[in-house]
Amino acid sequence: MQIAVVGSGTMGHGIAEVAAMAGMEVKLIDISWDILNKAKERMYDSLKRLHERGTIKETPDSVLSRVEMSTSYEIARQSDFAIEAVPEILDLKRKVFQELDKVVPKDSILATNTSSIPISDIGEITSRKERVIGMHFFNPPPLMKLVEVIPSKYTDPDVTNFTVDLAKKMGKTPVRLRVEVPGFVSNRIFLRLLQEACREVESREATVEEVDSSARNKLKLPMGVFELADYVGLDVVVDLWKVIVERGGTDVKCSSYKEKVERKELGVKSGKGFYAYP
Ligand code: CAA
Repeated sequence: MQIAVVGSGTMGHGIAEVAAMAGMEVKLIDISWDILNKAKERMYDSLKRLHERGTIKETPDSVLSRVEMSTSYEIARQSDFAIEAVPEILDLKRKVFQELDKVVPKDSILATNTSSIPISDIGEITSRKERVIGMHFFNPPPLMKLVEVIPSKYTDPDVTNFTVDLAKKMGKTPVRLRVEVPGFVSNRIFLRLLQEACREVESREATVEEVDSSARNKLKLPMGVFELADYVGLDVVVDLWKVIVERGGTDVKCSSYKEKVERKELGVKSGKGFYAYP
């Protein structure tokens, strides 16, 4: 099975790694070799940790021998399944899908890793909207079991079944959604957590550290809410919030996340968010 992944950032490189670990041949595409080489280093680092811990038997080099990288879509000419993982900007995703639609065989499936944009809005730009689906991974993809599978109103049920099976072959636990509600399921719950955490802090009922301590020690989440927001990326959080609210989700007054993004404090990836990352 050959999988094409477009976008090699936080999610894309992790998805490529997961597919390669599952024995699949991977074609990883991005706009520059700088970005692709960074992605390769990140995959190597993650695979090394998984190998040292005994989670995988294969060496990082052996897994990576199944990953070919390119700045051209041409390498996806024989892909059975393509996954787009570029930033949450509808026009950008549509551009990627137009390119994939041109090169990927007509009977192959095109999936998006969007965390909030309706799949129909993306699929409509292609000549095969019934073969377009949402396949939403979570960060970090090599460790997080959940994958949301989101059919659009056009998606052929066989395409949904195939995607559910593919997620299982990748060692994931797929959750198949019935309708494409804004933010799907997990991010709607995540947004509520982000909103309530923000309200607590901005109303001075609790500090960032106190909210996170409650999340860890009472709710038993692996990370505090602000810690998780920093980990996901505050720019991603703000985009996610905007898309869900624009499509009818409940909004609350909160400026903390936006202000941080305006100051270019994006969380772990920029070295500073609600916490500092030296
Ligand atoms: N690859 C391989 N190994 C990794 C890794 C990666 N990418 N990231 C962490 N690890 C390893 C670490 O090396 C460490 O290994 P050892 O135990 O052998 O030392 C182990 O995982 C645990 O890591 P840490 O000690 O650093 O920290 P932790 O115990 O908190 O685990 C975590 C890290 C798995 C990320 C955990 O904190 C967690 O599950 N956090 C929640 C993540 C989450 O909710 N993600 C979803 C975000 S929402 C999203 O992605 C979707 C969206 O649309 C916005």
